[in-house]
Order: sequence, then structure tokens, then C-alpha cells
Amino acid sequence: MAETSTVRRIQYHEYGGPEVMRLEPFTPPVPKKGELLVRVRAAALNAMDAGIRAGRLKALTGKRFPRGLGHDLSGIVEATGPGVTRIEVGDEVVGFAAFKTAGAFGELTIVAEEACAAKPAGLSFEEAATLPVPAGAAFQALVVNGNLKAGQSVFVTGCLGAVGRSAVQIALARGATVTGSARDTAADEARALGVGTVVGFDVAPSALAGRFDVVLESSGKLSYNDAKVMLKPGGKVVDVIPTPAKYLRAALTRRYTVQATKNDPAQLAEILDLAAQGRLRLPIERTVPLDQAVAALTDHELHPAPGRGKLVITMN
Ligand SMILES: NC(=O)c1ccc[n+]([C@@H]2O[C@H](COP(=O)([O-])OP(=O)(O)OC[C@H]3O[C@@H](n4cnc5c(N)ncnc54)[C@H](OP(=O)(O)O)[C@@H]3O)[C@@H](O)[C@H]2O)c1
Repeated sequence: MAETSTVRRIQYHEYGGPEVMRLEPFTPPVPKKGELLVRVRAAALNAMDAGIRAGRLKALTGKRFPRGLGHDLSGIVEATGPGVTRIEVGDEVVGFAAFKTAGAFGELTIVAEEACAAKPAGLSFEEAATLPVPAGAAFQALVVNGNLKAGQSVFVTGCLGAVGRSAVQIALARGATVTGSARDTAADEARALGVGTVVGFDVAPSALAGRFDVVLESSGKLSYNDAKVMLKPGGKVVDVIPTPAKYLRAALTRRYTVQATKNDPAQLAEILDLAAQGRLRLPIERTVPLDQAVAALTDHELHPAPGRGKLVITMN
């Protein structure tokens, strides 16, 4: 077994902007009941990571520092806690480090067994690490909450974002037809992905009235009032950007679900299987080693650019 007493991870000692991130030595905890200690091979940045570091989920992430950063990862199991049944030391896994503890951007981290699935042999560690949060959200939105069936039609906002792109590919794999919104300059890219009808971000909902069984909102720009215009009778809007006001609204209508994605290893396994078949892929814009990752994360955050792919951190 490799050395586990002191490893490195990106962590921070107070909530704040990119300047609070440090690559520092860290003594990994012993895995508790139902937990795995994973030697991370690759980890991927998500839209939420900067917000969590800024303290936007303080009620959940608490006041104990230092805190690790990052959630989506792939790696090799180094040790297992009591009660772990599906996964063994040496297994290659893909998973999600819990909101409360985070720590995917480090050499070793803790992940719950229920937040992991086996990495298919045909999928690289880097490709696999891009999938749990965005594809998990898209899968639950379409398949679980939207109950999308073959032959139905779905509208995906921001269909070239990580959640949107995952949703397009999952919907197509399930035999649905997809309409999506994309930046005008990226319409060809959306069509190449399989989006049957591509509309601009400024499309009037009335132009798409009554056309969809499911509307998936992941842009932060489409209100329920506008989205519901696009629904067929019996259709549903699923929104993956929760706010208290949206939860209140969703409590009052069966046609609106506001989704905080839950870990589900069976769903993650299905997602990874699709990816291994070459039917689900998220483009990687940049891969950096851990010792260059603070600079890369900072640059990514301070210089947003439309249409970019995933930032992946590798640990070796
Ligand atoms: N509930 C959950 O469990 C869950 C899970 C994952 C993500 N999320 C949330 O979902 C959101 C999207 O995440 P992501 O990882 O997909 O982010 P992302 O990769 O940055 O994608 C955002 C997409 O929205 C597009 N967009 C920008 N302005 C738009 C507009 N006016 N109308 C429609 N689309 C527009 C962007 O296009 P350009 O690139 O051309 O600007 C981009 O394609 C984030 O808020 C994230 O926190 C929630």
C-alpha cells in the first residue's frame, strides 16, 4: 500500500474567493462505517465548487476548517470502513465526495460507498471523473423526476453545458427527441450532438408552446412561468438550480420539481455504462496536475468563457 500518513490536497481555512485555496499537506482520516478511502486519480470541477468555497452552503458545510475542495472524482480504493460490502481495496471507482467534507482535489479522500460505482475498464479516469454531478443531475431530472419515455420530447436549456449536454445524450439514448437552447454561435455544435431543433437563448416560450413532455432547466434563466408554457398536457418542468422560493413554488404544483440530486449508485453505474458505450461524454477543456491546479482553478473562475469544457485535475 502506498504512503497514506501525509498527502496533499487543495484546501482552505476560511470561506472566500479563489485566493483562499492552498495546496497543503493533509492527514487523511480513517474511513468510518460505509466509507472508502480513495486514492484519487482524477477530479473534475463543477459550477457549484466555487460557490461552496465562497460559503454559499455554509448551513450544510459548517465552520470547521481546513476544508477540502471538489466533489467529482475517480480513483482506486485504498481502504474500506466497516460495513462496506460492494467495493474492495484495489477497485477502480467513480464517485462523489460528500458536500459536507468535499476533498476530491487531493491525493486521498473519503467517499461514501453509496456515492460510488465501479469504473468501467474502457473509460479513462479523466473521462469518468467528469460525470457524477452533471450526468447524475441530468439522469435524475429526466428519468426519475421527469419520467421521460422513448418517443417523448424534451427541452433542455443550455444544451451544451455540463448538465445540458449530459441530458441531451441521456435523452437520445432513451429514444426521446431533444430541442435545446444554445448560444447562436454554437448551434452547429448542438446539432452535431444530436439536438434536433436548436433555438437561441432568447427564444420566446410562446414559440415553443405545448411541445414538450419534460423541460429541464439548468441555466438559471428560465422561470417556471415561462417553462410551463412549453409543456404538453401532463408534462413536467424539472429545475436543477434550487432556491427557497422555487421550493415553495414547487410545493404548490405537481408539474414543477426542484431537484437537489441524491446519490444513487445504480444510476451512476447506468451513466458510466452509457459512457463506456461511447454514448455519453463531456468534453475536457484542460487537464492539469495537482501542483498546477490552484492556478488553473483561479484562472477558470476569474475568466469565464462560454462553451468551455471540463477542467480536470490529475494526481500523478
Ligand atoms: N441540482 C443539482 O444537483 C445540480 C447538479 C449539477 C449542476 N447544478 C447546477 O446547474 C447549473 C448548470 O451547471 P453546469 O455544470 O451544466 O454548468 P455549465 O457547464 O456552466 O453550463 C451552463 C450552461 O448554461 C448556458 N447558458 C448561459 N446563459 C444562458 C441562457 N440565457 N439561457 C440558457 N442557457 C444559458 C451556458 O452556455 P454558454 O457556455 O454558451 O454561456 C452553458 O451551456 C449550475 O447552476 C449548477 O450549480 C445543479
